Amino acid sequence: MAKPIFVLNGPNLNLLGTREPHIYGADSLSDLQARCEAKAAALGHTVVFRQTNKEGELVDWLNEARTEACAVILNAAAYSHTSIAIYDAIKAMATPVVECHLSNPQAREAFRHVSMVSPAAKGVISGFGAKGYELAIEAAVHLASTSV
Ligand code: DQA
Repeated sequence: MAKPIFVLNGPNLNLLGTREPHIYGADSLSDLQARCEAKAAALGHTVVFRQTNKEGELVDWLNEARTEACAVILNAAAYSHTSIAIYDAIKAMATPVVECHLSNPQAREAFRHVSMVSPAAKGVISGFGAKGYELAIEAAVHLASTSV
């Protein structure tokens, strides 16, 4: 049995659907989970889908993914812009990481233009709303099955 794809979500993403829907869309976190599970199943994979508001918990899950996941999709939300701990955790992994954002942080406030995740991730998908999570599953499956 192949290892699952971890889909890890950071702070305030529990509020999706009601949180600034003009920026983050109408889908709830459960809707995103359903999209990820359906896309992964169609590609012969499974998903472990989690959300936390705590930075250290994201670090713990990234450490776990070193041995328990075939790939990781990470929307670290605001911690993307601040967390050296998350950068270090990704650098410590051979498991590929896809950075994912619903919005396009580069098109928003200047403080969102820096990502601590991007330099350590294999690639970034942002600005496509909920659809981006499905694209990230495709990217994760690709990375899990190739060395590119
Ligand atoms: C986000 C973008 C971040 O800048 C922001 O802090 C979030 C969500 C996104 O998915 O668009 O909480 O990661």
